[in-house]
Amino acid sequence: MSLAPHGGKLIQRTDLGKSLGHLKKTIELDAMALSDLELIAIGGYSPLSGFLSEKDYLSVVETMKLSDGTVWSIPITLPIFEKQAEDLTKGDQAKLVFEGTDYGFINIAEIYRPDKEKEALNVYRTSDRNHPGVKKLFSRGELYVSGEITLIKRTQPDFPDHYFEPAETRAAFEQKGWKTIVGFQTRNPVHRAHEYIQKTALETVDGLFLNPLVGETKSDDISASIRMKSYGVLLDEYYPKERVFLGVFPAAMRYAGPREAIFHALVRKNYGCTHFIVGRDHAGVGDYYGTYDAQYIFDEFNPEEIDITPLRFEHSFYCSKCEGMATTKSCPHDPEHRVILSGTKVREMLRKGEVPPSTFSRPEVIKVLIEGMKETQAEAEEVR
Ligand code: ADX
Repeated sequence: MSLAPHGGKLIQRTDLGKSLGHLKKTIELDAMALSDLELIAIGGYSPLSGFLSEKDYLSVVETMKLSDGTVWSIPITLPIFEKQAEDLTKGDQAKLVFEGTDYGFINIAEIYRPDKEKEALNVYRTSDRNHPGVKKLFSRGELYVSGEITLIKRTQPDFPDHYFEPAETRAAFEQKGWKTIVGFQTRNPVHRAHEYIQKTALETVDGLFLNPLVGETKSDDISASIRMKSYGVLLDEYYPKERVFLGVFPAAMRYAGPREAIFHALVRKNYGCTHFIVGRDHAGVGDYYGTYDAQYIFDEFNPEEIDITPLRFEHSFYCSKCEGMATTKSCPHDPEHRVILSGTKVREMLRKGEVPPSTFSRPEVIKVLIEGMKETQAEAEEVR
């Protein structure tokens, strides 16, 4: 196990503040492409230095590897619509713009037509348009632009105290003297099952990198700003300060289950982690993936190809007989004694105005979530 970034070198493609006034061509980004732009530029997606070429795209879709053999499981692409393409040619430099603001530029290497049906089946294991990742895939432009990019403006002004580039988290872990660091991905408030698996991991590694995803998620997920508040109170009350590092992961959620678990692990390696937690139905949605598919997929690679150790956790629950959190690996009692937890269930209860029990989620966290959701509702009513 090493702390080397994926592919050996941490990519840096930022030139913050650079003026793009001289560029005539423009590509409009969607929120997912914007977050991908940023993550490529800050090195989160090392070794990628741009949006995938057709050769790499095909290789990723078919083999989960870039054309040079480096493992990469999610195609990072820049889609455009046919109409936009009329104005663009290979060799152009184009501004990358989101909602009227310039965020960077791309040196256009190719414009190619993907087979999205195949992409969906291979990456998401389904072409069902009800799957939120597949729906998103088909709603984006029909052509992909490839080429190296540069970021001129950061995208996450909302969490300035918790925004770190991979080079910064690596330096912070080193400064803390951590040799083994476990990364934790989440798109939910941290509930008791999350806390249990994080702390079980913390018993054997030096530090926990709590790295909640704050990019685009489906609309019924709890907003990143409410979640960030909830992580703050939880860490203050229940975690040893010197062993946890909270930093945002500015990516969009794809809900690609197993393939996204590999991707999440590789990116956390770039942020400096040596271990990565993969629990029950990681990055899954609905019933599209088996409970542990996101763990099994790691067995398809040699450990050195991935070079970050997955820490696999069974579905954990609160057992009233054990009077604590457990899994079937550690608890002998009948299922009727178990409180089965999930982010989805917490969200449902909160929406119905029910207060989830403390076996589900810490009361301090629930309080923040209830207040946050009330504020959001009040704001939505004002807009109406
Ligand atoms: S995810 O889409 O980001 O994976 P979530 O925030 O719910 O969703 O999960 C974060 C991590 O915790 C994932 O690795 C997931 O597998 C794991 N996890 C969530 N709930 C449980 C549970 N009850 N038992 C074990 N692992 C869980």
